[in-house]
Amino acid sequence: MEILLKDISIITMNEADEIIEKGYLVISGDKIKEIGEGDAPGGSFDKIIEGGNKLAMPGFINTHTHAAMTLLRGYADDLPLMEWLQTKIWPLEEKLTEEHIYWGTMLAIAEMIKSGTTTFADMYFCMDEVAKAVEKTGMRAVLSRGMVGIGLQSELALKQSEELIKTWHNGADGRITFMLGPHAPYTCPPNYLKKVIALAEKTGVGIHIHVAETKTEFEDIKKQYGKTPVEHLESLGLFNYKVLAAHCVHLTENDMEIMNKHNVGVAHNPESNMKLASGIAPVPQMLKKGITVALGTDGASSNNNLDMLQEMRTCALLHKVNTMDPTVLPAYEALKIATANGAKVLGLEKKIGKLETGKKADIIILDLDAPHIMPRYDLVANVVYAAQAGDVNTVIIDGKIVMENREIKTFDEKEVLDKAARIGWQLVKGY
Ligand code: NI
Repeated sequence: MEILLKDISIITMNEADEIIEKGYLVISGDKIKEIGEGDAPGGSFDKIIEGGNKLAMPGFINTHTHAAMTLLRGYADDLPLMEWLQTKIWPLEEKLTEEHIYWGTMLAIAEMIKSGTTTFADMYFCMDEVAKAVEKTGMRAVLSRGMVGIGLQSELALKQSEELIKTWHNGADGRITFMLGPHAPYTCPPNYLKKVIALAEKTGVGIHIHVAETKTEFEDIKKQYGKTPVEHLESLGLFNYKVLAAHCVHLTENDMEIMNKHNVGVAHNPESNMKLASGIAPVPQMLKKGITVALGTDGASSNNNLDMLQEMRTCALLHKVNTMDPTVLPAYEALKIATANGAKVLGLEKKIGKLETGKKADIIILDLDAPHIMPRYDLVANVVYAAQAGDVNTVIIDGKIVMENREIKTFDEKEVLDKAARIGWQLVKGY
């Protein structure tokens, strides 16, 4: 299958930061075959997408979420993190079945595709169901079975992780990869994290973990181990593996140096951190140290959506006001955080995150014919500060069109909405 995108504007996110005002892009199979300025090459194509006033760019990479939690959207709001988890989220999660996980994930994927996300990193349970949803929908995902190191499920979680990796790692034509998902330093004691490390050594996959999300966590870990959460994880040897650290709100200078030294990737979740009043991650300082910071929405119950355009805008604005410096995180840097940096922290930088020859064709096309993104002096500023999810017209993942003219092609969106609404209501309301 060869697809031609012609007469189209392109933000490549490549090393040269190239932005093409009018150009073309050829997709062959699952990869980008050709990209350039000016007129499209001749030849016959299976499909031609006319650009006109449209923009092609890499799909967004949501590096931290709990997809099935879309079923809990609007169920418990406006509470502090620990109270929210202990009195609301964890008790309800006890009741979640495989059916909830599957349809909750399908709802999440529908929302993500419709807002331009082409890859997501998920941490949850019943991950077979999540993988099935990813396989069906044509999404790309990096999955991890969330593991809590205390209680009856802890050993089972390790065993299940290993089995999931055997079954699904590099599955769905390579669109699914796996990581290990120890939940956090405060829910996984050192002896458990050592077992996680042994499994990382055995399986060769990376580790996705929540780190230093709240001040309470920071202080408790310090009291318990005499170290910050980052120092604690380093001392256990966790950072000798590829680590994706979600949140990283409460960090010291030394923590950032440790993270940079070990190439720890960060999933920054500004909206979740704002909503739970966890704090503001020191993103400009982390970037200055050389740490790769990417973007995530976290679960829909602490956000309350999975819209990366909104998240990116929040990210760009939050750090400006927090530092009282409007130059601190320019639009292009925010876009990089939401795309190319995401690929890097997930270990997928050779495959995705940029539009260039040989990369996988994970491309979104935005329709620029709308009052809120006119005029078009600066495409990057328009995308970061003005675009909305509804502007995402077409989504291509792994060379396959999964949404065209806002219609999802790989599954029945209406069925997903109906089913998720029904089982969500039963779960929360009990009837
Ligand atoms: Ni999370």
